[in-house]
Amino acid sequence: MFTTFSMFAVFWGSILCLPCPGWTQARNIHSENTQWDAEEKLSLIWTVHVKTNGKLSNTETAKNIAQDLNMTFIGKVRGFDNHFTLTHFVRTVDNHTIKSAHAYHDCSYTNLEKSLLKANVENQLTAHADILWFSHELILSRNKRWFQVNFNFMDFTDPYYRQQWHLTNTMEINMDINVTAVWKHNITGRGITVAIVDDGVEHTNPDLAGNYNSAGSWDLNDDDPDPMPEFSNPSNHHGTRCAGEISAIPNDVCGVGVAYGAKFSGMRLLDGPLTDSLEAQAFTEKIQINDIYSCSWGPDDDGRTVDGPHTLAAAAMKKGIDFGRHGYGSIYVVASGNGGHEGDNCNYDGYANSLYTVTIGAVDETGHMPYYAEECASMLAVTFSSASGGSNRDIVTTDWTSGAAADRTGCTLHHTGTSAAAPIAAGLVALMLEVQPCLTWRDVQYIIILTALRVSHFSRGGTYSTSLYLQLSG
Ligand SMILES: *[C@@H]1O[C@H](CO)[C@@H](O)[C@H](O)[C@H]1NC(C)=O
Ligand SMILES: *[C@@H]1O[C@H](CO)[C@@H](O)[C@H](O)[C@H]1NC(C)=O
Ligand SMILES: *[C@@H]1O[C@H](CO)[C@@H](O)[C@H](O)[C@H]1NC(C)=O
Ligand SMILES: *[C@@H]1O[C@H](CO)[C@@H](O)[C@H](O)[C@H]1NC(C)=O
Repeated sequence: MFTTFSMFAVFWGSILCLPCPGWTQARNIHSENTQWDAEEKLSLIWTVHVKTNGKLSNTETAKNIAQDLNMTFIGKVRGFDNHFTLTHFVRTVDNHTIKSAHAYHDCSYTNLEKSLLKANVENQLTAHADILWFSHELILSRNKRWFQVNFNFMDFTDPYYRQQWHLTNTMEINMDINVTAVWKHNITGRGITVAIVDDGVEHTNPDLAGNYNSAGSWDLNDDDPDPMPEFSNPSNHHGTRCAGEISAIPNDVCGVGVAYGAKFSGMRLLDGPLTDSLEAQAFTEKIQINDIYSCSWGPDDDGRTVDGPHTLAAAAMKKGIDFGRHGYGSIYVVASGNGGHEGDNCNYDGYANSLYTVTIGAVDETGHMPYYAEECASMLAVTFSSASGGSNRDIVTTDWTSGAAADRTGCTLHHTGTSAAAPIAAGLVALMLEVQPCLTWRDVQYIIILTALRVSHFSRGGTYSTSLYLQLSG
């Protein structure tokens, strides 16, 4: 400490080129403040500690000092009996507050003038017999930290949990699904099963195995009960990533799912020639076991294709709505598509525009529409997903562990597109159904409309459309 103080004395001496009487004496206080100078702004305000005088009150003494030194008396430092603030002479300011005095000096003097005046004033303060101690007031840089204290996290040990910004976003405030308070009410999707209709699910994955519902699963590509993906095709990690967003277990692996108490089943459909009859089976298979069908796929997003469920698949969906979930209706959550940059519009996607589906689009973590996002009247709501690049993050979720190449770490930071948005919504619906299992498929759509919040900047290319993002509150 001693060394630091001495060095500051030398520093100030050389900058101001002025004699500094009393540098080494006890009442000199420069070193206390000036070591922080880099972040602070020069003021012409001082706090003085006045000597108690038997005849005058401390306030009167301070006012006299101000007069002696041609300074302006501001006031007492509340809570400190004999400390007062004085400022370099202020001509026009009526309100003697630190705020008004500083504003006055800021527009009346340059920084150079201020440092010269400072030296002059401090010489006088140093010499005044009634001052025990004084301290130059600097305008400190302090930022409000309100947003850093209220993050609502669970005590999960999953190494990537705190990077799952769609659950709790510490960088873009409120740009998350606000789910933590719901979990704290012990609502985690227990008793609900979400079928991942996709390219298979690695159900032995340590982040998923405990939530696997084999009774709800089927492999439609190979027509057997095991929906394990074919590991040789690197793109077959897709279903596992979607399952992780919904059902990943709080443990020491990767992150957690939106409805980590819910079960998932695997409906393997996308790894082979896709036909109407296969789709139809995917939508009706185990409709009393699977409550929700999460479908992160759809027809080509090339801006030219108009396609949708053909005869059997359409009939299957109607069957699920009428008879699935013991008559309350299966919930079909579908991704709105990634063809925004191709000029595609999800109104031309028969899965998206079906009455029976919950159609989910994507916004990035700033609430903006990514390049791939499509607009359409049939989109019920958006959730979060990857952005158009830049520093905004992709979705963090479980990944397969047995797949091709290097791509098998069990965790990915880069799940993207509306594929990543739809399972978040499916997980939120699982939370609803745990609380109210008898909600009909129409109730679910209605609750989404009632609880979604508006994203005001969901627009692109001059068009503007209102959209909603899905959040639940406890
Ligand atoms: C007090 O300071 C002001 C501003 O620097 C100056 O105009 C004025 O003449 C000074 N008064 C005395 C008595 O020194
Ligand atoms: C003092 O400040 C208050 C609050 O800013 C203001 O309402 C009032 O008019 C000011 N008085 C004078 C004399 O400038
Ligand atoms: C959460 O709910 C389940 C049943 O739904 C119950 O078994 C469990 O004890 C509850 N946990 C807490 C902490 O309330
Ligand atoms: C998040 O949920 C909490 C309670 O669960 C609620 O008080 C809060 O308003 C919600 N935040 C937003 C931005 O809706």
